[in-house]
Amino acid sequence: MAPFFFLLLLGQILLCTAVDTINSTTPFSGTQRIVSRGSKFTLGFYSPPLGSSISGSYYIAIWYSNIPQVTTVWTATTDVLVSDPTTASLRIASDGNLVLLDQAKNRQLWSTNVSTISNSTMATIKDTGSLELTDASNPSIVYWRSIDHPTNTWLPGGKLGLNKTTRVSQRLVPWKNNADPSPGLFSLELDPNGTTQYFIQWDESISYWTSGPWNGNIFSLVPEMTSNFRYNFQFINNDTESYFIYSMKDDSVISRFIIDVTGQIKQLTWVDSSKQWIMFWAQPRTQCEVYALCGAYGSCSLTALPYCNCIKGFSQKFQSDWDLQDYSGGCKRNVPLQCQANSNSAKTQPDKFYTMGGVRLPDNAQSALATSSEECKVACLKNCSCNAYTYNSSGCFVWPGELVNLQDEYSGNGVGTLFLRLAASELQDSKKSKAAIIGAVVGGVAAVLIILAIVLFFLFQKCRRDRTLRISKTAGGTLIAFRYSDLQHVTKNFSEKLGGGAFGSVFKGKLPDSTAIAVKKLDGLHQGEKQFRAEVSTIGTTQHVNLVRLLGFCSEGSKRLLVYEFMPKGSLEVQLFPGEKTALSWATRYQIALGTARGLNYLHEKCRDCIIHCDVKPDNILLDESFVPKVSDFGLAKLLGRDFSRVLTTMRGTRGYLAPEWISGVPITAKADVFSYGMMLFELISGRRNADHGEEGRPAFFPTLAASKLHEGDLHTLLDPRLNGDANPDELTRACKVACWCIQDDESTRPTTGQIVQILEGFLDVNMPPVPRSLRVLGESPDVINFFSDLSSSQTSQTQNSTTTSQTHSATSGGS
Ligand SMILES: *[C@@H]1O[C@H](CO)[C@@H](O)[C@H](O)[C@H]1NC(C)=O
Ligand SMILES: *[C@@H]1O[C@H](CO)[C@@H](O)[C@H](O)[C@H]1NC(C)=O
Ligand SMILES: *[C@@H]1O[C@H](CO)[C@@H](O)[C@H](O)[C@H]1NC(C)=O
Ligand SMILES: *[C@@H]1O[C@H](CO)[C@@H](O)[C@H](O)[C@H]1NC(C)=O
Ligand SMILES: *[C@@H]1O[C@H](CO)[C@@H](O)[C@H](O)[C@H]1NC(C)=O
Ligand SMILES: *[C@@H]1O[C@H](CO)[C@@H](O)[C@H](O)[C@H]1NC(C)=O
Ligand SMILES: *[C@@H]1O[C@H](CO)[C@@H](O)[C@H](O)[C@H]1NC(C)=O
Ligand SMILES: *[C@@H]1O[C@H](CO)[C@@H](O)[C@H](O)[C@H]1NC(C)=O
Repeated sequence: MAPFFFLLLLGQILLCTAVDTINSTTPFSGTQRIVSRGSKFTLGFYSPPLGSSISGSYYIAIWYSNIPQVTTVWTATTDVLVSDPTTASLRIASDGNLVLLDQAKNRQLWSTNVSTISNSTMATIKDTGSLELTDASNPSIVYWRSIDHPTNTWLPGGKLGLNKTTRVSQRLVPWKNNADPSPGLFSLELDPNGTTQYFIQWDESISYWTSGPWNGNIFSLVPEMTSNFRYNFQFINNDTESYFIYSMKDDSVISRFIIDVTGQIKQLTWVDSSKQWIMFWAQPRTQCEVYALCGAYGSCSLTALPYCNCIKGFSQKFQSDWDLQDYSGGCKRNVPLQCQANSNSAKTQPDKFYTMGGVRLPDNAQSALATSSEECKVACLKNCSCNAYTYNSSGCFVWPGELVNLQDEYSGNGVGTLFLRLAASELQDSKKSKAAIIGAVVGGVAAVLIILAIVLFFLFQKCRRDRTLRISKTAGGTLIAFRYSDLQHVTKNFSEKLGGGAFGSVFKGKLPDSTAIAVKKLDGLHQGEKQFRAEVSTIGTTQHVNLVRLLGFCSEGSKRLLVYEFMPKGSLEVQLFPGEKTALSWATRYQIALGTARGLNYLHEKCRDCIIHCDVKPDNILLDESFVPKVSDFGLAKLLGRDFSRVLTTMRGTRGYLAPEWISGVPITAKADVFSYGMMLFELISGRRNADHGEEGRPAFFPTLAASKLHEGDLHTLLDPRLNGDANPDELTRACKVACWCIQDDESTRPTTGQIVQILEGFLDVNMPPVPRSLRVLGESPDVINFFSDLSSSQTSQTQNSTTTSQTHSATSGGS
């Protein structure tokens, strides 16, 4: 009975949601919703998921109807929040405006606030994501559109510009934090002064990014617009208005442009196959370029996550906001300065200075008269409002106010050494007073006993306590520094070997909380501890769903180990090549190809320093429980130094994945990874090693075969026979074409990983690739195949003799 009743109720709700308008007789409240005619967008009451401080608050919002994780595109922000949507209603008021009423208090919380010529109006949710208030009898009279009042999202078809008569502009403003849609500090808008450039500003005052002026085709500082292929866009600039507008060339693609709570603008696309939003463009390029992101006395760092931290002697003012990625509250001083503490200052010591080298100096410095660093220091100490000073070739500068826009480990414009003023007690390491000495003497014996007890206690508890402490730190995104003895313990003295690669052997381990890990012992690293830590921290902050996550490291004496998350399905090599009874399905293979390309794309284009993997092959693509691919071993080539030839000689297992430029001596770019990726893609298609396609004793090189079959239009013969022809033909064609483009001899004709992703996603069409020249050679003279298949042995025997290797290469190309 009860389930039946529930179904009836559900049916009624669903019937109600089929409506797309609110008119004077159909107000709505509670869980009611209206849905656009093509079911693309929904309007209703919405409560942000993460609300800690303001949980249980509801907002009128518009979101995508068909995206599982509720993604809002517009919210009506009000000063008074709705805590119970059943007591609030959205209705047409007697003046024709759409209003949000608090019925309990009979109070108006929000209104479209326009003057209408008739009070007979209605509000309709459109498939463009816009809520429109129109005349009920003549819907072509539009009074108000939500798309003209964007919040944090700029949708296709929306204008972002300036009405030159009213001087009213559309501004894109982020949420205050991840749980609060009220306006944050940042904004994107067209220059109100009338030039044709967009600015991202902090607090409507300081611009930290500009698009550059419109040059007739693109915004001058956004050159990537020229390689646009997914959007139509237009910039209108005349006497009455100027605005930018964009739309999707393919209507079925869901794309949105947002300004993030952390002050970056981003363009994202929904990828249904992986059920996630993929960000493919962001400005400013790095997070720390966002002005004052970390608030007063906070410092931004690109090598640690979260980006913001308080500087020494300070701590978060509002921890709950920081947890929601709103750092604007900044930090507060832990111990007041001597001059601030109005106690009898005889007891307190004068303030001291803490040296912060290599930082981006804060804003709003004032110059002070001083001819030496010491005088500069004295000048700062004299004035209680002085928080820091610096002395450089331009002289002495002091900071009388809050310190904002600091960045750690900085090397750009405005780098310097900051001397931060702190209470003396913050900088004391050993405070020896008479009392303490007497205390030590008197308590000597007792202390020894206590210490002994503590030592015993620690010996007893050591492992457990350490590890639980450290593991809890992982969640925060920082790397764990393991002790060698601990790793020895969790890997049962390195007994379970998972594999060996170019950089060392990998062992399985299990942390005390039973998290499985993979521990890599690095061979032949002759790097200093400091440099190692720096590199490791870069690898640690390089995080993406398609990259294996680094959890920690160990650096003790000459021992260098890396600790990664464990991948239950092992490597692609194990899963793909014959031997494994059940062949990977085509869908899984395609998923692996796409995910790998995304991971590589992240390495090449999305992180701070471009990381070239240098060793892309099935052995380095690991698979998680659900066969999501994760690229492993990235960043290690760099760890071994820029000496790539050394990397080459150590790549013993690498057969047939190396791009020709490795041996021709030209500089290695990300396109070398693209080549290897292409080779791997062929193997995903055929299910066999590229060099293992021999028939009747005649060796055949699969890519050669594939290139010619592609031209003949006969692709199914290329497919792994274990699949019995069960593959999506469109995907198969795309994969073959991409693979063939990837292995072109000339780097510049190979696609970028970004383009590969787009091609595989189906957003970019791709022409028929030419047969690579070196392949044509290979096809004709079978003995040259050794060039690929026996590369590893020639590499190892020739060690680093580059003359010999390049001769090999010229001999190869000489045959053409
Ligand atoms: C309001 O909409 C409902 C259903 O969409 C309709 O039945 C009703 O006639 C409309 N009322 C007015 C005043 O237009
Ligand atoms: C519209 O205005 C008229 C008078 O101007 C008023 O009588 C009527 O009730 C109003 N209609 C609504 C739906 O509020
Ligand atoms: C409504 O608009 C008028 C001007 O058109 C403005 O003065 C008023 O403050 C607005 N009211 C609200 C609640 O936004
Ligand atoms: C500018 O705003 C005024 C007043 O709202 C409006 O009448 C006019 O149509 C707007 N101009 C443009 C080009 O949208
Ligand atoms: C606009 O012009 C004013 C006055 O010339 C100037 O102070 C302001 O900085 C300009 N704003 C921008 C964003 O360029
Ligand atoms: C400005 O451009 C808009 C959009 O193209 C157009 O509707 C409007 O008439 C133009 N105004 C003038 C004065 O050219
Ligand atoms: C301290 O510095 C501030 C800002 O530069 C200045 O306004 C104030 O007069 C100074 N006070 C003294 C006592 O010099
Ligand atoms: C010295 O520091 C001040 C304050 O940040 C800065 O404005 C100035 O450019 C620096 N001068 C040099 C030469 O770095």
